[in-house]
Amino acid sequence: MALDRFNRNIHYLRISLTDMCNLRCVYCMPEDMTFRPREELLQDDELLRLVRVFSQLGFDKFRLTGGEPTLRVNLVPIVQAMHDTPGVKELAMTTNGVTLKSLARPLKEAGLQRINVSIDTLDPDKFRRLTRWGRIEDVWAGVEAAESVGLGIKINAVVVRGQNDKEDAVDLARLTLKHPWQIRYIEVMPMGRVSDFQKSAIVPEDELRATISEALGPMELLNEGRLDGEARMFKLRDAMGSLGFISAVTKPFCSGCNRARLTADGRLLLCLLRDKELNLMPYVRDGASDQELIELIEDSIWHKPWGHGLAQDVRPSRNMSEIGG
Ligand code: GTP
Ligand code: 5AD
Ligand code: SF4
Repeated sequence: MALDRFNRNIHYLRISLTDMCNLRCVYCMPEDMTFRPREELLQDDELLRLVRVFSQLGFDKFRLTGGEPTLRVNLVPIVQAMHDTPGVKELAMTTNGVTLKSLARPLKEAGLQRINVSIDTLDPDKFRRLTRWGRIEDVWAGVEAAESVGLGIKINAVVVRGQNDKEDAVDLARLTLKHPWQIRYIEVMPMGRVSDFQKSAIVPEDELRATISEALGPMELLNEGRLDGEARMFKLRDAMGSLGFISAVTKPFCSGCNRARLTADGRLLLCLLRDKELNLMPYVRDGASDQELIELIEDSIWHKPWGHGLAQDVRPSRNMSEIGG
């Protein structure tokens, strides 16, 4: 078991498979974003070796992220190999859904259990503006394909003031009346080169819940307020699904953090919102043994920061797309 010095059990690894993306969401990356050359990324064998090492350390939940993880060459064999790794109990992916229509079935057959799909609005024009060039029809076809093959589904919406914090947020909440999905509203977090824009765009959870309730009626708090992962859960009356609020800025959840992140270029990040990291790449490429890797990782996890420093204006220098959320 990998414990940190605050006695948190760190057993959830988010692996960014690529920093590339086929969209350019305004809150995520600048339009002229440049990406890392392939040779600087963990190769498949290097990545799968690290998965085995982390599972030996007690990690049992793995999530594939990006950029956009479905752009990774060999994605399906990677998922299959991870699924076959002893100790991997939960295997999920966060995706923009654009290419899911054809990938949902092979991914499910390879052992993927769940997907979290980013949908910030159901309005096609606004979707295009927010993603700079995405088509909501493609994403919707992807969600339907995922549902039909039995992948678990959550929808993530990053809420941006003045863009999707009113009718769009209400329309997404309305989906829970007819679908057993979890719709999650994420407070936008300031990071990287777009952090000034992001800071002015934050919509606090309380304000958003008031907007949704005004349109759709009261919502009931679930699980006595205990978080599901990092989401505070609510349910509208007679709804099949639930509403989750991920409010890292106005209601931080760092005390319950159980996660670490591996970037596509092989860095272990101890907090999404701080730059502290362990670059595993030189060790992986210079012949470190599994035992040496385990000791390095254990030591880094022990020193995991308590929480983020957004209130003190501490921001990470990487963009979200380089970390994967
Ligand atoms: P589940 O396993 O379904 O609970 O997924 P998840 O919420 O762990 O993963 P997902 O990729 O859907 O995360 C949704 C968003 O929550 C991310 O894009 C981030 O914006 C935010 N988030 C996830 N983990 C953290 C975290 O450790 N700290 C902060 N501040 N935000 C996080
Ligand atoms: N703040 C919060 N979440 C973000 N995401 C991207 N940028 C931000 C941000 N600045 C989320 C996306 C997706 C995941 C990759 O990260 O919605 O769920
Ligand atoms: Fe791509 Fe996701 Fe970033 Fe949008 S939020 S640009 S889909 S990585």
